[in-house]
This record gives sequence, structure tokens and C-alpha cells, in this order.
Amino acid sequence: AQFWLRGIRPRQAVEYDPKTGMWNVYGHPEIQRVLSDPATFSSDTTRLFPEAAQLSEGTLTRLDPPEHQKLRKLVSHAFSRKVVADLEPRIAALTGELLDAIADRGRAELVADLAYPLPVIVIAELLGVPSDDRHLFKQWVDALFERTQQFSLVNRSAEQDRDIERAMEQVGHLTDYLAEHAAERKKRPREDLLTKLVEAEVDGERLTDAQIVNFANLLLIAGHITTTMLLGNTVLCLDAHPEQFAAVRADQSLVPSAIEESLRYFSPFAALGRVTNQEVELGGERIPADQLLFMWIAAANRDPREFREPDVFDVTRDPNPHLAFGRGIHFCLGAPLARLEGRVALNLLLDRFPKLRTDPDEAPAFIPSPNMTGVRRLPLLVS
Ligand code: HEM
Repeated sequence: AQFWLRGIRPRQAVEYDPKTGMWNVYGHPEIQRVLSDPATFSSDTTRLFPEAAQLSEGTLTRLDPPEHQKLRKLVSHAFSRKVVADLEPRIAALTGELLDAIADRGRAELVADLAYPLPVIVIAELLGVPSDDRHLFKQWVDALFERTQQFSLVNRSAEQDRDIERAMEQVGHLTDYLAEHAAERKKRPREDLLTKLVEAEVDGERLTDAQIVNFANLLLIAGHITTTMLLGNTVLCLDAHPEQFAAVRADQSLVPSAIEESLRYFSPFAALGRVTNQEVELGGERIPADQLLFMWIAAANRDPREFREPDVFDVTRDPNPHLAFGRGIHFCLGAPLARLEGRVALNLLLDRFPKLRTDPDEAPAFIPSPNMTGVRRLPLLVS
């Protein structure tokens, strides 16, 4: 995984790929420009993938203004820095419990033992679904991202069609699950985000069932897999750079900037999609209307025009204007939560296990998706 990022180091910032019929955008300023102009670059990529159209309703990441702002406002308070800060004791207690379970084992698997359960329990509790069902979410979400092919708009292969079909099937399981819980909240409201969505009004009207379920779906998925990747990637990066790992251990006030650097160096979401609403010039290329753009934030985060020594992992990098959480109106709603979970988990992990390192006898396994960067298994020696 470390080297494919270099593999997509661009010769030019914007490039048409005739094999996929899509435009790859690699440059930092070019991606910033796209993300800050939603009138020209629409987030509703589902219009090019009719099979996925059912997902656009209520899914914040796929909405454009003015609907986007109306729906985002419904939950933005719940994820504000101030509200999220109050979750710190719960996140610390949960991390403590998860670490207790591995304390005497000598070995651990970071994803199964900490990086997966921690964020999924937190988001399930916020949403109001039983966190004990997390093995179900894991099964569905793992299968959702098990993608063998890079998407292509031309010469679609049978494998790609199967990937899409399988992904929609998994989304279907999650949707049914959340629909059941939403129906229950309609009868018996509680103090949770699902009730908030069920009771919310936009322009004087309640959300439709599809909007509620897709919205909850996004929160549940976006609320955990990314933080799982962040934790795994940070441990991996530190382990690969022993002097910096030692510096962070000696001075844990470096943990937040180490997390930012891990987000830059190994961006969990490697690419974001947008569609052009009209013909536009970008990075010296003329792009017609209705074209799909793949914005490689993983490449932009190593753009030498923006970052000095971009391939160097540096826990003290400052400033660090990485794009791992996106930019503009769709800037990650959960960034304060992800940063808090990352900081608390890493601090406690380092406190408990001063000699923590990756297991030299068991290699990590990566998520098999071209658009995501993260481990799915990371065996550790813990003492
Ligand atoms: C949006 C990354 C954690 C919820 C985004 C976007 C990115 C991103 C790149 C922008 C998508 C776009 O512009 O098309 C990440 C990373 C995370 C993380 C790297 C962890 C390290 C979370 C968490 C939540 C969350 C913990 C919790 C709920 C969302 C939501 C959006 C979003 C709801 C859509 C916002 C909108 O469209 O207005 N995230 N995310 N994310 N993220 Fe995160």
C-alpha cells in the first residue's frame, strides 16, 4: 500500500483516462477548486450510476445545495466540537475496557481488538442502534467495500457489474436493519440521532423513510470504518518510523499532529467523486459537462506544490493542510469525533503498552479496495 500512492504520482494535475472514461484529478489546488465549487461540480454521482440512484435521497455526501444544507443542519449540532468533547469520558472508558481485554495476552490484532469496535460502538450509541449488532454491520460493510475493480464508465466488465450488484445487496441489508429501528422510533421516541431524524422537519415537512434510512446509513458507515482506518494507519506509520514513534512516546502532546500527518500520508478515503454540471477548465484541461471526476486526495496530500518533502512522514509537520476530511460544504461532519477518538485511543494505547510494535511474524492485511487506504488486520506485539 505504501507504494501505490507513488504509483499515482501525477505527471499532470488533471488527466482523462480513456480506459475508464473518467477524469483523474491529482493536484492539491485543483481538488480544492473542485470541492469549493458545488455549482459546477455536483456531488450527485449517482446520476451516472442508475443502479445506485436509490442512495442519493437523503445521503448528505451525494446532495447538492440547497437540499444539502437543509439536511446537514439537522445533525450538525450533534457533531460539533463542543458536543463531541463531552463524549471523551465515554470514549476513554470504552478504550480502557477494550485494552483490558488484551492486557495479558502479549499479542493483539489492532483492528479486531480496538480500531473496529471503538468507533462502531460510539456511533451506534449516538445513533441509537444496539452496538452488540456490530458483527452484522461489519459483515455488511466489509462486503460493501470488497471491490476488485476500479469503476469504469466505458466497457463495463462483468466483474464491475458484480461488484456493484454485491455492494447494493449489502446496502440493502443495512437499509432493512435501519428501517426497522426507524419504524420503532416512530412509535417510541428516544434521546438519539435516529429519533432526531424521524422527528426532523425540513420546510415544514417530515423526512421520507428513504431519506431517514439513507441518512442513518451514511452516519453509521462513515462514522466508523474511517476511524478504524485512521487508527490502523497511524500505528502503521509510527511503527515504520521508529525515531518518530520514540518522539511521540516521549511527548504525547505530539499525538494530535501525528494523527494529522497519518491522515495526510495515508488518507483513509483515497478518492472522492464529482460530476461536472457544465463545461469547465481545470488544470489546463477542458472538461465537458456530465463527466465523472475522481479526486485523488491521497495524491493531493503529497503534492510537492503544497507540501515540503511530501513523501516524508513527519509527526511535527505544521501547517498540514491535508484534504483527508475533504473541503468546502461537504467537509467531514465527523472530523471532531474522529480526531477525538484517534487522540484518546492512541494516548491510552501508548500509556498501556510502552513497547507496542507490529508483529514481525504476521504481516498486516489491507482493505482490498482501490479507493480506500487502510488495514483490515494489523497483528501487534503488546507489552
Ligand atoms: C464527509 C473523511 C470520519 C461522517 C466526509 C468527507 C471525507 C470524509 C473526505 C467528504 C466527502 C465528500 O466531499 O464527498 C473522513 C475521514 C474520517 C471520517 C478520513 C476518519 C478519519 C467520520 C466520522 C463521522 C463522519 C467519525 C461520524 C458521523 C461524515 C459525514 C459526511 C462526511 C456525515 C458527509 C458530510 C456532507 O456531505 O456534508 N468524511 N470521515 N466521518 N463524513 Fe467523514
